[in-house]
Amino acid sequence: MEAKYIYFNGEFVPWNDAKIHVLSHVVQYGSGVFEGIRCYSTKNGPAIFRGYGHYKRLKESMKTYRMDIKESVEELIQITKELILKNDLKDAYIRPVVYRGLGEISPNPLHAPIEIAIAAFSMGKIFEEKEDEGINIMVSSWRRFAPDTIPTLAKATGNYLNSELAMIEAEESGFDEAVMLDIFGFVAEGPGENIFLVKDGTLYTPTITSSILKGITRDSVTKIALRLGIPVREEHMPREMLYTVDEAFFSGTAAEITPIVSIDKIPVGNGKVGDVTRLIKGEFKKITQGDDPFGWLEYVEFEGM
Ligand SMILES: Cc1ncc(COP(=O)(O)O)c(C=O)c1O
Repeated sequence: MEAKYIYFNGEFVPWNDAKIHVLSHVVQYGSGVFEGIRCYSTKNGPAIFRGYGHYKRLKESMKTYRMDIKESVEELIQITKELILKNDLKDAYIRPVVYRGLGEISPNPLHAPIEIAIAAFSMGKIFEEKEDEGINIMVSSWRRFAPDTIPTLAKATGNYLNSELAMIEAEESGFDEAVMLDIFGFVAEGPGENIFLVKDGTLYTPTITSSILKGITRDSVTKIALRLGIPVREEHMPREMLYTVDEAFFSGTAAEITPIVSIDKIPVGNGKVGDVTRLIKGEFKKITQGDDPFGWLEYVEFEGM
């Protein structure tokens, strides 16, 4: 993982020069907010997928933690386009992070400076080698954090300590990934993905009251499904629903749409990737290749211009 430049506090600096102090607030207390965005190589040239939605969510995460930066959402999109061009990338994973820099040694973040970095580099999908056959997951013994503890709607760096514990448990137990329950025992999400279940032709996904991140891909899946005439329901879902549905898949910027074929060693449906999953995955892929009826692609530089 490397690229030529990183946008770092107002300028494009060489990859190895984007450095922070070891006593920065973010290192000591996890006080950063970030995004994961993809740029796809489409038939019309490189395009950022739902950049506006991602940067709007970044601003919302910042607001929750009383952070501000001078760049507007529109400026952040322009900077990202410039970064992709400077790095000669066709497709890319984009990682903006706004964090607290070197200030006082105190959990109080208000006296530490706010800094920004945006990196863009080549990165495949996670679970890429299993995207056709599907993955095997477990229900984690680690719950998502309770409402009014750490806000899950804010995509903050510190949140991922919870994800780390679930991922360690899954890997050490021989699974590809985990799914976590919320504090009330309802299905929440994966450590870095939202979850969808299919039952009798209807798509189900947990509500934002089940301690989830409000995923941009989750929203894309919902809109694609509705356009295909597939009903979508956001619900509180008991754990046992995981064992009785016909199909299941994860959605996320890094995982895109990843079929799940077993949960706790119980086959999902017949244990094979289901038709609804295939259909939505196929539609999603078409959009990222440039057939975009929703206007989600933000072209970095339109070919032929
Ligand atoms: C905890 C968590 N849930 C869900 C998602 C999926 O969100 P998105 O589709 O916006 O990438 C992510 C990835 O960002 C995540 O980290």
